[in-house]
Amino acid sequence: MKLINKGVGGNLTVFADFTPKVEHKLKKQLIIAIDGPSGAGKSTLSKALAARAGYLNIDTGAMYRSVALLAQRAGIDSKNEQALAELCRGLQIEFVREQGQERVLVNGEDVSQAIRTPEVSLLTAKVAACPSVREALVGLQRRLGESGGVVLEGRDIGTVVFPQAEVKFFLSASAEERGRRRFAELQAKGLRVDLQQTIKEVEERDRADEAREHAPLRRAEDAIVIDSTRLTIEEVLVEMLRIIQERQPRIVGK
Ligand code: DC
Repeated sequence: MKLINKGVGGNLTVFADFTPKVEHKLKKQLIIAIDGPSGAGKSTLSKALAARAGYLNIDTGAMYRSVALLAQRAGIDSKNEQALAELCRGLQIEFVREQGQERVLVNGEDVSQAIRTPEVSLLTAKVAACPSVREALVGLQRRLGESGGVVLEGRDIGTVVFPQAEVKFFLSASAEERGRRRFAELQAKGLRVDLQQTIKEVEERDRADEAREHAPLRRAEDAIVIDSTRLTIEEVLVEMLRIIQERQPRIVGK
């Protein structure tokens, strides 16, 4: 299995929008973890944060989604541990950033759209409960992020993948609001969806993510909780940057 992230690394420079003249440079390449349920805004925010900091952005959900997509195409049952483990062995995932757009390539194919359908979303929750899949993907995530200068987005980053991450965020929002956001997203892509059904699917995925035996969704004790229900993306981003900035002397002093 091979994973390439073609984003750019670099020292974290935190620009706070509310005080544009203030610029702080960190000497250390941080590991920033962003966990939380689906639809809380993690993807948009981790992309924005990584772009602002010149860090790599690792969308771990896209990795689980890619395995689910390949399993679906190959007709592999989500309970077939052995076949899924085999699938992970031959897998090549690339994150490519081009003209500000992030794309996911699996074995050279652009699957950015295909991994976001409601069917693949439901199958992903099942595939992500499979220990051999988690073991393979967590190993990759650690290798990619160990030297720092990364924002990792997922469910178990602060608890399992990088418990030593310098900054951990847990992003939440009400299930209804998250369902509404997902609905708007799917509609914008031209997919025919029903709002109540989308909210139900969000709740179902929450239950599956929280109840699973391996690496269930839960907040790390030292994670900072941000509830985005009534906040815009920009407001959450400003809050995250403020927190990173606030922690800066402690982090740099390590
Ligand atoms: O973040 P997302 O909606 O793209 O995640 C898709 C699925 O993958 C979701 O069911 C949770 C699961 N997932 C996981 O179990 N662990 C991660 N680190 C990331 C995602």
